[in-house]
Amino acid sequence: MSAGPSTGTVPTTAGGRAGPAGASVAGLMAEIADVGRDDARGGYSRPVYSVAEHELREWFIDQASRRGLDVESDRNGILWAWWDAPGADRRDAVVTGSHLDSVPGGGAFDGPLGVASALIAIDRLRERGLTPSKPLALAVFPEEEGSRFGVACLGSRLLTGLIDPDRARTLRDPEGNTFADVTAKAGLDPRFLGPDPEAVGRIGSFVELHVEQGRGLIDLGQPVAVGSTILGHGRWRITITGQGNHAGTTLMEDRRDPLVAAAAIVQAAREAALRHSGARATVGRIVPVPGGTNVIASSVSLWLDVRHADDAVTAAVVERIHADARRAAAVEGCSLELREESLSPTVHFDPALRHRLGELLPDAPVLPTGAGHDAGVLAAALPTAMLFVRNPTGVSHSPEEHVEDDDAEAGALALAGVLEGLAGRRV
Ligand code: GLV
Ligand code: MN
Ligand code: MN
Repeated sequence: MSAGPSTGTVPTTAGGRAGPAGASVAGLMAEIADVGRDDARGGYSRPVYSVAEHELREWFIDQASRRGLDVESDRNGILWAWWDAPGADRRDAVVTGSHLDSVPGGGAFDGPLGVASALIAIDRLRERGLTPSKPLALAVFPEEEGSRFGVACLGSRLLTGLIDPDRARTLRDPEGNTFADVTAKAGLDPRFLGPDPEAVGRIGSFVELHVEQGRGLIDLGQPVAVGSTILGHGRWRITITGQGNHAGTTLMEDRRDPLVAAAAIVQAAREAALRHSGARATVGRIVPVPGGTNVIASSVSLWLDVRHADDAVTAAVVERIHADARRAAAVEGCSLELREESLSPTVHFDPALRHRLGELLPDAPVLPTGAGHDAGVLAAALPTAMLFVRNPTGVSHSPEEHVEDDDAEAGALALAGVLEGLAGRRV
């Protein structure tokens, strides 16, 4: 077990009860439909360890307990719900799951669909009378989006040692709270954040079901796909420092305005990406300090997201944007600093596991994705795979993200078939 003083079995009130008869993915999604709604932005804002995300975690613990699963929260705040907890010698557990945090103003399905489908897949296996011959677990990873502390897939990075825990502890949210303080308030001991080789070692395979975040399945007219690759991607934070001043008294020629440099960087990012087929560069967040209508900003933080299948191209795009950004800052009399926040190489899911999913789901097409996932981070440490469920809008990280009820059910059935195939049938 992933021991560590901060690890423990989460107390539950409903342990041992059977899963609710007649439950469906749509029914579970409806139960959480009001949690974290964001009336200002639209959609959902469920930052990690916020009231909303906490409520979702409690909901998951309750649902898992109703299904008789043993729930534990590990040193990194990852929830594990075991059908059959592995003995110390077992290294072949089959794990499925996703995340419950969201981007600001995100859709309902990015993350929670994988969690709800995992719960329903357990119900479907039970209805078939299956008892797995391997340990089977559902997992919920914190801060997949990196929306609060900046680093995507923070929970799975900590678990696998892909981020230095000292760095993780000092990450700050927009209000200035450190990750250490926030995890402590959430009941973890921040001293024990970090790699957990024992927990990783017990997993034989991880399969994440996720809403598709593009149009692949719409175009193919299919409800469910098997994942092939995740586009390499990274995040960089650019800080531009100028001179804060008065909007009325400062002549245009006397200004050192970091927002003017930021505007040039947004344009430079687009131009740099357009030079390479398939490259994507996005500036989705700019924070001027102090941020007043009649105030020339003293500094600006700007977050850059760059993706390409070839990691060398990603590096070249970032280098070009950095060079253009330095120039734009210099023209405006500002200084500039660029810092890498996270970097994930292109992931090719485990070929043997992917082949097995292909055998278990012969009608499912195979699709790549441009979106990042915990399954991609975990791929550095163990065999992982993904299933995607059709999103009829093709839109994600937006309130328009959608999944039809029948497709959600098809996804859960596909996941159940995969779990049955991987965990082995024992009747
Ligand atoms: C997460 O969904 C990402 O791709 O950034
Ligand atoms: Mn997402
Ligand atoms: Mn996601």
